[in-house]
Amino acid sequence: MFHLHLTTLLPILSIRLTLSTSAPNTPPTCTVPPPNGYELIDDTPLINTAIATCGPFSGTILIPSSPTTTPYSIRSQIDLTPCAHCDIQLEAPLLVSRDEWTYWNAAHSIIKLSNVSGATIRSLTGKGGIDGNAVDYYWRERWPWGYGGGMNDGPHFMHITNSSSNIFVEGLSVWNVPRRFFRIDGGARDVLLKDLDLRVRDQWNVFGNAVEESESFGVEVADARDISIVDVSMDFRCARDGRGGEVGGGVGVCVAIDRGTSNITVENLNCVRAIAGVAVMIGTSDFGPLGGSGGRDIPVGHDVQDVLVKNLTYGGGIGGWATGWANAIEFRNETVRNVVWDGVEVLDGSPVLLGECADVLPFPMLNCIGLEVWMVGLLLT
Ligand SMILES: *[C@@H]1O[C@H](CO)[C@@H](O)[C@H](O)[C@H]1NC(C)=O
Ligand SMILES: *[C@@H]1O[C@H](CO)[C@@H](O)[C@H](O)[C@H]1NC(C)=O
Ligand SMILES: *[C@@H]1O[C@H](CO)[C@@H](O)[C@H](O)[C@H]1NC(C)=O
Ligand SMILES: *[C@@H]1O[C@H](CO)[C@@H](O)[C@H](O)[C@H]1NC(C)=O
Ligand SMILES: *[C@@H]1O[C@H](CO)[C@@H](O)[C@H](O)[C@H]1NC(C)=O
Repeated sequence: MFHLHLTTLLPILSIRLTLSTSAPNTPPTCTVPPPNGYELIDDTPLINTAIATCGPFSGTILIPSSPTTTPYSIRSQIDLTPCAHCDIQLEAPLLVSRDEWTYWNAAHSIIKLSNVSGATIRSLTGKGGIDGNAVDYYWRERWPWGYGGGMNDGPHFMHITNSSSNIFVEGLSVWNVPRRFFRIDGGARDVLLKDLDLRVRDQWNVFGNAVEESESFGVEVADARDISIVDVSMDFRCARDGRGGEVGGGVGVCVAIDRGTSNITVENLNCVRAIAGVAVMIGTSDFGPLGGSGGRDIPVGHDVQDVLVKNLTYGGGIGGWATGWANAIEFRNETVRNVVWDGVEVLDGSPVLLGECADVLPFPMLNCIGLEVWMVGLLLT
C-alpha cells in the first residue's frame, strides 16, 4: 500500500515541478510552473512547493520569466523556512492580493524567513518586480483601527527573523507594500540587502500625523547584527494633499535602526521624499509613535552600536530630515554608541533631527549617557 501511494504521488510531483538532479552532489533546480493566470487564483503554493522540494538541498528555485506570463498572484505567504542555502531566482513579476487584509494581518509578512540559514533572493534579469498592491490598504480607515487592528497590523513585505543568517537579497524592484519593506529582527544576522529599488506611491498621509507618516519603512532593524544595506534607492510619496499632506510629499522612513542592534552599515543610499532618511529610532518598531497595538516583534535587546552610514543622498521635503535619532515612549534606558554618518548630501529637507533625548513625557526616555554620534562630511546643497 505504501509503495502504491508513493508511485501514484511521483508523477504528480514531476508534472508540477521540473526537478533536475544531474549529478548526486549537484544542488537541484526546481523551476516553478507558470502562474495559473488569474488574480483570484493563488500561485503561492507553486512557489512554496518548489521551495520545500529544492530548498533543503541548497537548491535553486527558479521563477522563470516568459513574455506571455501574467504575474504570479500572491494570495498567501511565501515561506522560506525549508531553505538551507537556497537560491531563489525571481525572474517574473509577482502581484500581491489586495483584498485579504484580515489574512495578511494574521500572516504578518508576505515573505517569511524564520530561522533560515542561508538564502539568496535575487533577480538576475531584473524582471522580478513585486507589486505589493497596497493602495487600498494605505487608504483604509485608521479609525476605528482599520482592518482589524490599527497601524501596526499590516504585514511586512519581508520578515527576516528567528536567528536567520546569511540572507542575501539582490536586484529586486518592490513597490507599494503595506508596511515595512524589510523587517529584520529576532536575532537575525549576516543580512545583505543590495541593489534594490523600493517605491511607495499614494500612501494616505496626514502631514504631521506620526501614525500615517510612519507606516512605510524601507528597512527596520531591531535585535539584529551584521546587516549591510548597499546600493539602494527608496522613493516614498503620499497621494495628495486631501488630508493635509504635501502633494507628492514624503511618507515613511528609509532606514530605521531600533535597539538590540550592532554593526549596521548603510552605503550608497538614495532616499527620496521620505520623512526620514537613516535614523536611530528607539522604540518605534514596537509601540509606534502613538502607542500602536504593540505586542508583536518587540525587541528584547538593548542599545544601538556601531552604525555606519556612508554616502546617503536625501531629497526629503517639508518636515523631512536626513539623519538623526528619535524615540517613542520608552520604559528602559538605552545607549547609542558609535553611530557615524559619513557623507550625507541633503538635496531637500533638513539635515538632521536631534530627537527627544530627554524626559519630555512622564516616562524615562532614551538615556543619553554614552551617546556617541558623529556626523562627518554633512553636505548641505
Ligand atoms: C519564531 O519562532 C517561534 C518559536 O519557535 C515561533 O513561535 C514563531 O512563530 C516564529 N516566528 C515566525 C515569524 O515564524
Ligand atoms: C533554529 O533552528 C535550530 C535548529 O536548526 C534550533 O536549534 C534553534 O533553536 C532555532 N532557533 C529559533 C530562534 O527558532
Ligand atoms: C559587520 O557586518 C559585516 C556584514 O554586514 C561583516 O562582514 C563584518 O565582519 C561585521 N563586522 C564585525 C566586526 O563583526
Ligand atoms: C553614492 O551613492 C549613489 C547612489 O545613491 C551612487 O550613485 C554614487 O556613485 C555613490 N558615490 C560613491 C562615491 O560611491
Ligand atoms: C535611567 O537612567 C537614569 C539616569 O541614570 C536613572 O535615574 C533611571 O532610574 C534609569 N531608568 C531605568 C528604567 O533604568
